[in-house]
Amino acid sequence: MGMENVNNETIAGYAAIVFGLGMLVLVVIYAVRGRVRIKPVRANMTVLRWTPFERIVHWYVAILFICLALTGLGRLFGGMAPRSIRGQEAFTTWADISVSIHYLLGPLFAVGVLVMIVLWMGINIPARYDGEYFKQGCGFASGKHPPAGKVNAGDKLFVYWLGLVIVGTVVCATGLMLQFPDHGQSAGTMQWANTMHVIGGLAWSLIVFGHAYLGSIGVEGAFETMTCGRADVNYVKQHHDMWAEELMQMGVTPQPSQTREEPADDV
Ligand code: HEM
Repeated sequence: MGMENVNNETIAGYAAIVFGLGMLVLVVIYAVRGRVRIKPVRANMTVLRWTPFERIVHWYVAILFICLALTGLGRLFGGMAPRSIRGQEAFTTWADISVSIHYLLGPLFAVGVLVMIVLWMGINIPARYDGEYFKQGCGFASGKHPPAGKVNAGDKLFVYWLGLVIVGTVVCATGLMLQFPDHGQSAGTMQWANTMHVIGGLAWSLIVFGHAYLGSIGVEGAFETMTCGRADVNYVKQHHDMWAEELMQMGVTPQPSQTREEPADDV
């Protein structure tokens, strides 16, 4: 067994524990807090939050991320399977396919990540009120929503700067090094790249896990902004008050919601 496998096995062991704990935290948050509802109710008036191009880039990156995470995790944990299982033809065929998928999608994903970084750098520049967001425990401690611009300080720090820019760049750069090894990299460098790629990929998956929770079941009104592009005005006032003020100053007029249920006598 090569040194690379020993490393990966150790990492995979820790990863299983960290993921288990991460899932537990989300279950506890959901049990204690439940789904964060739009208060007091939906306004049924909406503003544009994400353009069609932004949504395409987001889902392009997200779908590729899921495919890469599954094939990457499959390879990592597959390496730990007992020798009797690893020797079976079905296992090796699946392992080969998942490596091919990982290699095929990796460079396409890296391009998407780069576009996403450039696209959303402007809205992720820290603002003066962002410190207040953390001081108020991201809204968990104070019970009321701390000030937030178009993107809140937690998303700026964890999803954008830490996840996408720092960890994302490390994972993509080391992935490309591993996939195209003929540039004079030494064995030591490759080993190092492998370890960074695996740890980075796992850390990023953990961040995305939390992000996907908050963007779907965790917070009412969030998911629809990334599918149809528009956000309910009361969602905006509740979660992005400083952005709501900016929109008002810019004279943006909310539009009636397309999905609003009409009263029966209107039909
Ligand atoms: C896999 C399931 C995912 C779901 C359900 C999801 C959901 C969402 C939603 C609903 C928003 C909009 C939130 C809002 O309007 O406040 C959003 C924004 C965003 N998502 Fe995702 N997402 C997923 C995966 C990803 C992945 C894999 C990445 C990057 C690797 C990513 C990066 C971002 C970024 C950067 C933003 C904008 C916030 C910012 O600029 O900081 N998402 N996501």
